[in-house]
Amino acid sequence: MRSPLLEIRNLGVEVPVPGGGAAAAVDGVDLSVAHGERVGLVGESGAGKSLTTLALPNLLPPGVRIRPGSSVRLDGRELVGAPTRDLRAVRGKRVALVFQDPTHALNPALTVGSQIREVLLVHRGLRGGEARAETLRLLSEVGLPDPARTAADPPHRLSGGMRQRACIALALAGEPDLLVADEPTTALDVTVQARILDLLVHLSEARGLALLLVSHDLAVVSRTCHRVAVMYAGRVVEKGPVKAVLERPLHPYTRALLAARPRLTGPRTLPAPIAGSIPAPSAWPTGCRFHPRCPDALDRCRREAPPWVGLSPHRATCWLHWEPGGGAS
Ligand SMILES: Nc1ncnc2c1ncn2[C@@H]1O[C@H](COP(=O)(O)OP(=O)(O)OP(=O)(O)O)[C@@H](O)[C@H]1O
Ligand SMILES: [Mg+2]
Repeated sequence: MRSPLLEIRNLGVEVPVPGGGAAAAVDGVDLSVAHGERVGLVGESGAGKSLTTLALPNLLPPGVRIRPGSSVRLDGRELVGAPTRDLRAVRGKRVALVFQDPTHALNPALTVGSQIREVLLVHRGLRGGEARAETLRLLSEVGLPDPARTAADPPHRLSGGMRQRACIALALAGEPDLLVADEPTTALDVTVQARILDLLVHLSEARGLALLLVSHDLAVVSRTCHRVAVMYAGRVVEKGPVKAVLERPLHPYTRALLAARPRLTGPRTLPAPIAGSIPAPSAWPTGCRFHPRCPDALDRCRREAPPWVGLSPHRATCWLHWEPGGGAS
């Protein structure tokens, strides 16, 4: 069987904490993405989603480091500890990133076209007329109506939605195998958001491109992805096919996230908010980290980290479903 495109094993990311020392903001994450597969990573603010994605091609901010014992393999090749030269070859070429705020991803002083041509030159050796033609083709592929005009524009001339499309074109310029998109639609209004998500699905299908999509919103992931991993306080607490996780969530946190979703159809009930928020990495609770907010917490949940339960591929870490001897209730 072909190995997964991306295989993250036991990923830990340590951040500095006030008063000195470090805490694992990402703590033992396992996650894989197959060629052409779309995987969602969801959770509230502070779950560790962005640090997980930034760790992949090691783009972590200063002072933040990958914990020894972590492994990130791309097509079987280890990236943790790889020389900077190799990581540079991976970034933009094999793995491209799209961020929440397209303003920061584009250089305000350069035209959109010249930024795409730069990537075409560095990663594909294209120049001159060939690079110009490919730039227009990419801008048209991401649904920009007037590619020649957009190519000549500086980023500030574009609307938010157009700017995010331009960023996606820039990300595609290196012909990556994996697109990592961190909240790519959060800054956009709802209609534009839906169109960008549909574009990502279309590109993934047309190009066989794998997608790792970060979102705080399960609705976004269910519209877009095959599988989902739910993160809480640095750990993945549930993962599985999107349909199974949404229809039969195992973890009380996933259930709470689903209950907090505003409903677009059916009775107009107010979303039930999840009380509280994820604490800072230096203050994570013992046992199951969700226990202080869990309506069903048992004594054991306060003391011992929960085991994985459920039948592969849909699994969660929760004592409530645990039965001595294995399996889930
Ligand atoms: N450079 C840093 N220094 C110290 N702590 C950090 C740093 N970057 C992130 N953290 C902390 O690590 C935790 C996880 O951060 P991360 O940005 O990965 O969360 P997230 O799940 O992406 O949240 P959001 O939905 O708000 O983007 C947070 O508590 C955050 O404050
Ligand atoms: Mg984030």
